[in-house]
Amino acid sequence: MTEWSGKHAVAVAHPNIALAKYWGKLAQGTNLPAVPSLSLTLAGMSTRTEVRLDDALEGDRLTLDGHAVEGRPLARVSQLLDLVWAGAGTQSGRRPPAMVVSTNDFPTAGGLASSASAFAALAVAADGALGTEHSVNELSSLARAVSASAGRSLFGGFVELPAGVAGEVRLSARALAPADHWPLRLLVAVTAEGPKAVGSTEGMIHTVATSPYFDAWVAWAPQAFERIRQAVLARDLDALGPAVEQSALAMHATAMASDPGLLYWNGATLDVIHAIRRLQGRGLAAYFTIDAGPHVKVITMADQVDVITAALTRVPGVRRVIATRPGGPARLVTDGLMPDGLMPDGLTPAGERG
Ligand code: DP6
Repeated sequence: MTEWSGKHAVAVAHPNIALAKYWGKLAQGTNLPAVPSLSLTLAGMSTRTEVRLDDALEGDRLTLDGHAVEGRPLARVSQLLDLVWAGAGTQSGRRPPAMVVSTNDFPTAGGLASSASAFAALAVAADGALGTEHSVNELSSLARAVSASAGRSLFGGFVELPAGVAGEVRLSARALAPADHWPLRLLVAVTAEGPKAVGSTEGMIHTVATSPYFDAWVAWAPQAFERIRQAVLARDLDALGPAVEQSALAMHATAMASDPGLLYWNGATLDVIHAIRRLQGRGLAAYFTIDAGPHVKVITMADQVDVITAALTRVPGVRRVIATRPGGPARLVTDGLMPDGLMPDGLTPAGERG
C-alpha cells in the first residue's frame, strides 16, 4: 500500500440541456466557446462516477457502463484528472494513476449530453479522491476545458456559460437561478439507439472550418442568449419557447451548411418537430430543442406532461419518452447509496465546499 492507493470518491452529476446553444470554439485557448450558452440541469438522468487511486496501475483505466474503454474517451478522462491535479498548485510529484468507473442511467453518446454529466461527475470525484479542494467555480472551469457543456453541469437549475475571450485560461459557468426557480418539465423523445456518427467536438471543428453561416451564427447568438436569459428570469414560457426553438434551429442550420453538411436528425426527429407544432396549434405550451443527435427534447409545464407524452409516444420512430425536471448540482455521494440515479437532489452539493 502506497501513499495514494485506496483513496477514492464517488460523485453524481446530471446532464444539462442547452436552451441557448453552444456550437463552435475560439481558434485560440483551451476549449473556449465562441458563443454564450444557457442550460437547464436535468434531474431524472444521471451519471455516477467513482475515482479510485491506485499507485500500482501503469496508467489510468476507464470502465463505462461495465465496459473497459480506451482511446479518446480515456485520454479525455486523463486530461481532466491532470487538470484537477495540476490546477491545485499545491501538489508535487506525479499524479497517482486512477481507476475510473462510470455508469449512466440513460443512453451514452447519443445526443443526450452524456459528456456533460460524465466530466462534471469526474471533476467532483477526482477532486474528492485527490484531495485538491477546488472551488465549484474552479471545477467548472477545469471540466469546461475538457467539454464545455460539462462546465455547466457543475451547477443545478438554470446555468449560463459566457463566451470565451481569446487568451483567457479560466472560464467557469455560473448559476443563473436554482432548480426551484421554475418547475418546467423536459421530455426526451428518444428516436434512435446507439452512439451518434459525429461527436459534438468534431462536428464543431468541421462547422467552424467549412460553414458559410458560422460567422453569422456567432454574431447572432449573444442576442438570442439574452432573450432566453430574460425569459428564464421572468418565467415566461411564451417568450422562452420560440427563442429556444430558434436557437436550436439556427445551430443546426449552421451545421447543416458545412461541407459536407452535418445532419444529426433522422426522420422521427422531423416528425416530432411537426407533432410539437400541431400541439402548439391546439394551444398547448410545448417547445422543442435538439442537440448533436436525433433525439428531441420538449419543454413544457407539469400539467401538460401527460397529454404531450401521449402525443410523442404516438409518433412512429419514438422509442420511449424520458421525463425530466430541473435538477441539482454535481455532488459527492457516499459510496453505495446511489445505484441508479435515485439519490435525491441537493445532497452534498459541490458548491458547499468551495
Ligand atoms: C449541441 O460540450 O459536447 O449539446 O466542448 O467539444 O466537448 P465539447 O462539446 P460539447 O457540445 C455540446 C453541444 C450541444 C449544445 C450545448 O450543449 O450547448
